[in-house]
Amino acid sequence: MTLRKSGMATINDVAKKADVSITTVSYVLTGKRFVSDDLKERVHLAMKEVGYRRNNLARSLRMGKTDTIGLVIPDSSNLFFAEVSRHVEDIGFENQYTVFLCNSDDNPDKQSKYLDVLIAKQVDGIVFISVFNDQSNLQQLVDANIPYVIVDRDEPNTTADVVLVDNFEGGKMAVNELIALGHRKIACITGPSMVNPSADRYLGYRKSLENSGLPFIDDYVVSGDFRHKSGENAMNKLLRVSNPPTAVFVCNDMMAIGAIRAINKSGLRVPEDISIIGFDNIPIAEAIVPALTTVAQPISKIASTALDILFSRMGGDNKDFPSRITLVPDLIVRDSTSVCSN
Ligand code: RIB
Repeated sequence: MTLRKSGMATINDVAKKADVSITTVSYVLTGKRFVSDDLKERVHLAMKEVGYRRNNLARSLRMGKTDTIGLVIPDSSNLFFAEVSRHVEDIGFENQYTVFLCNSDDNPDKQSKYLDVLIAKQVDGIVFISVFNDQSNLQQLVDANIPYVIVDRDEPNTTADVVLVDNFEGGKMAVNELIALGHRKIACITGPSMVNPSADRYLGYRKSLENSGLPFIDDYVVSGDFRHKSGENAMNKLLRVSNPPTAVFVCNDMMAIGAIRAINKSGLRVPEDISIIGFDNIPIAEAIVPALTTVAQPISKIASTALDILFSRMGGDNKDFPSRITLVPDLIVRDSTSVCSN
């Protein structure tokens, strides 16, 4: 048996063991030509018996691609990103790609290290959701000359394919709904100010108040970090305001869940005493009690749109580059909002 330096069996050993030509073994591996079931079975049995393992690195070098995609997300504990990851992985797998999931954990240095790893692994493309709007990491991608699509967190002044959601419209939609329910004392729990989606949702909140002639009350705006605990802490602050709000627009569902917990722990009720609207429509939003009224991001469409663009770029199609697609959110009314009773 001719063993490589690594001590691994070769394609030649498989051919000898199965008593077939090397070409036949190659056709079984690549599927490029028809091979009878009987011959296939003999070759697969021989592979097992000699301990043959395909050398994907050599194959990648030969084919000039690795059949892998990188997905970089800021926080895998956030169910919005978990849902995005699930859809990206599903679509990638359906198209015979392995998806490498990299969680930057809201850490720009970690994000940069992961981009280096994906570049070194020569992934065929990258779906990139940045920790925040930061040009520096983008330069790594540009220099690496690997196709990539920015999702969710726009990188201003950059020539890249981008898939976004209209966060400004979504924020307006949420507050318009609360005003339509008769609320006039409406607060906002924002996400991190340096993250565009949160900043735009907050601007939508302000615009809706302005359009309805409602005053802006500084004490009614408290910031969070998109994680549920910050929503609970922010809501506790709002409950201590001298003239507490009767409704709160929360810039993501994870913080909205925390806000509901704070209200319940205070002895008040949602929505009888305070109405809550979130943003994202993560799967658990309909399962909590009360089920969360929220502005739904089209998460499946975000993933499919981003991968449609990425696959075309990976295939060398640069039509309409750079494309900027902004998807429309949708209000899902559930049980955490009701008519203002006081
Ligand atoms: O929930 C996490 C938030 O960060 C989402 O709203 C998404 O838009 C991302 O920006």
